[in-house]
Amino acid sequence: MSASPLVPFPARLEASEPLSERERLFRLALPAPMSHRPGQFVMVSFPGVGEAPISIACAPRDDARLELTIRRVGSVTQALHALEPGRDLGLRGPYGNGIDTALLAGQDLVLVAGGLGLAPMRSLIQALLARREAFGRLILLAGFRTPAEALFRTEYPDWTAAGMEVHALVNRTEHQPWEGQEGLVTEPIPHLGLDPGRTLAVLVGPPVMYKFVVLELAACGLSSEHIFVDLERRMKCGIGKCGHCQIEDLYCCRQGPVFRLSDLETRREALA
Ligand SMILES: Cc1cc2nc3c(=O)[nH]c(=O)nc-3n(C[C@H](O)[C@H](O)[C@H](O)COP(=O)(O)OP(=O)(O)OC[C@H]3O[C@@H](n4cnc5c(N)ncnc54)[C@H](O)[C@@H]3O)c2cc1C
Ligand code: FES
Repeated sequence: MSASPLVPFPARLEASEPLSERERLFRLALPAPMSHRPGQFVMVSFPGVGEAPISIACAPRDDARLELTIRRVGSVTQALHALEPGRDLGLRGPYGNGIDTALLAGQDLVLVAGGLGLAPMRSLIQALLARREAFGRLILLAGFRTPAEALFRTEYPDWTAAGMEVHALVNRTEHQPWEGQEGLVTEPIPHLGLDPGRTLAVLVGPPVMYKFVVLELAACGLSSEHIFVDLERRMKCGIGKCGHCQIEDLYCCRQGPVFRLSDLETRREALA
């Protein structure tokens, strides 16, 4: 959308809604529709402050709109949280490989999201539900620390009605109202009745979650070829030039951030 891949184009903030104490959903209007795959990210910039990689949180759309979920952690995300609707921010991308949903057709899919990982997963969820008949069972396991941190909570009933088995879990309710389950995101896995011959899994969350989820999936018979993981690394250019995101011989920004687990097995630092 701009002449050089490193020059951002303006995107107008139409609305920003709180999802939790630290996260907001940003609804953006773009100069032209952006074609992207679930799992891809954009570089978001605020003039005079800096740039940060942010996953796309909606399915590909034809209407030149894009949604991002942004957690307030440092200088860029703080500036973005303070931005008023009607103002512009900078965008470049989409970057990364993302997931080709055509490769998932006909399979049962287990989607496991931890915390902010539900933001990129929402892009995949929307894309799968838009072609619900193309897939087998769709199972979502979404885990959070507390109900107050549960992202996109108001959308779970719609996802269920559209044909997804939704298991939302919190580690502890802290006496807040909660319509989901209490426990760890791994706990439902042995009871899902997975058919390893026709099941793929996609994991997005903190690396500590991957280890335990992979153990449970392996106990159900899923091999590492059938498990995809979304990795986060420090990124600067997003286009395979600066080397900041390197995992041994892999560039997370280009060959990732979504990897087949079997491709990471010989790369010890990938899931460290
Ligand atoms: C592919 C990708 C997708 C991402 N998607 C999202 C998203 O959808 N929503 C979202 O809110 N954030 C996302 N992030 C994380 C986001 O880019 C960082 O939090 C970013 O550093 C925020 O910029 P900042 O200037 O506000 O904070 P900074 O000043 O850069 O950092 C704030 C704090 O976070 C730490 N930090 C920064 N980057 C990372 C990192 N990659 N891993 C661990 N710690 C880090 C810093 O050390 C510091 O303590 C994504 C990152 C990647 C690589
Ligand atoms: S972020 Fe620069 S090479 Fe990946």
